[in-house]
Amino acid sequence: MILVTGGAGFIGSNFVLDWLAQSDEPVVNLDALTYAGNLANLATLAGDARHTFVKGDICDRALVDSLLATHRPRAIVHFAAESHVDRSIHGPGAFMKTNVDGTFTLLEAARAYWGGLQGDEKAAFRFHHVSTDEVYGSLKPSDPPFAETNPYEPNSPYSASKAASDHLVRAWHHTYGLPVVTTNCSNNYGPYHFPEKLIPLMIVNALAGKPLPVYGDGQQIRDWLYVKDHCSGIRAVLAGGRLGETYNIGGWNEQANIDIVKIVCALLDELRPDPAGPYSRLITYVTDRPGHDRRYAIDARKIERELGWRPAETFETGIRKTVQWYLDNADWVANVQSGAYKDWVSTNYQAR
Ligand code: NAD
Ligand code: DAU
Repeated sequence: MILVTGGAGFIGSNFVLDWLAQSDEPVVNLDALTYAGNLANLATLAGDARHTFVKGDICDRALVDSLLATHRPRAIVHFAAESHVDRSIHGPGAFMKTNVDGTFTLLEAARAYWGGLQGDEKAAFRFHHVSTDEVYGSLKPSDPPFAETNPYEPNSPYSASKAASDHLVRAWHHTYGLPVVTTNCSNNYGPYHFPEKLIPLMIVNALAGKPLPVYGDGQQIRDWLYVKDHCSGIRAVLAGGRLGETYNIGGWNEQANIDIVKIVCALLDELRPDPAGPYSRLITYVTDRPGHDRRYAIDARKIERELGWRPAETFETGIRKTVQWYLDNADWVANVQSGAYKDWVSTNYQAR
């Protein structure tokens, strides 16, 4: 079996669902159920003996030790994190706690557990650290996309905390020989994406007739990857990645934010037309994010070359599926827009 952390969040839940759709290897899913964790994402696994959910904190060493001793996983796939850049600007403390201390705790627990394994079990064990392209900083328009050899230049409290966690993972391999692999992925989108992030926020605001807040001039560039393609990349690296290596995962799909918003509006115009007029009428430019990175882009040739991974979706197919998913899952959207969500919207957008 494998131990997944953060498997009730956006990418983690997609990973668990895809994993169990493709194999019968059980998953123990450790998640603290912060505001971003949602068991409704895993509702289709209710009663499925292959999935064991444990509510708990990755910073709780005794809990992690006991899960490892009880379930004896062959791998840890580590998604759990505070993941939203804007929240890291308003309150960086939780990011240091979970992303840095939490990763340290997991590494130490994994080291003790792996140290007690023997023979084939020991040789097969993997610690897979799920990280982000944001650790590389911001690209100029003419720069080549991020390669694994780029220097780390994190610019936000979030990316600094993820960079710190990547360094810990590297050091635990280099010093202790812990069998690790790290993946650094670009911006994901798809089902179960919490509507604090650009694409789902634009969909839910548009459907509610609310302003679509575009930071600054909207010309910041991100490289977008459909979440299930990220999950297949992680599976490929977990299965065949070289120990101690990092692999960039991306969609070869650079888009300016304003273009993303216009694409979402056009799809909604087609799939759920608003009698009041095109959704693009709601686009509102607002004060920029402090320290906003201008451009990210991923050079994904290493994972393609070594492991034969390629995204299955184009942006056109992936974004259409995504918009349709939000239209089909109005109950999920309503449930996540709780009181705490409203507090965040007012914290982040009221003064912009
Ligand atoms: P998310 O915020 O949607 O989910 C994070 C999950 O971790 C939640 O279920 C939350 O409850 C859980 N969690 C948080 N703190 C915890 C703790 N202390 N102990 C246990 N569980 C805890 O995040 P996501 O977008 O699914 O991202 C998952 C991982 O992928 C993160 O490590 C993130 O840095 C990385 N990543 C995200 C993207 C993206 O576009 N979203 C891209 C590249 C990498
Ligand atoms: O690149 C990978 C990263 O992508 C992950 O590591 C992060 O966990 C994930 O949150 C994401 O970070 P971003 O900051 O790029 O994602 P976000 O959806 O918050 O913003 C995408 C872009 O859209 C960014 O340039 C900011 C802009 N934006 C965002 C919001 C929420 C807006 O213009 N308006 C908004 O309301």
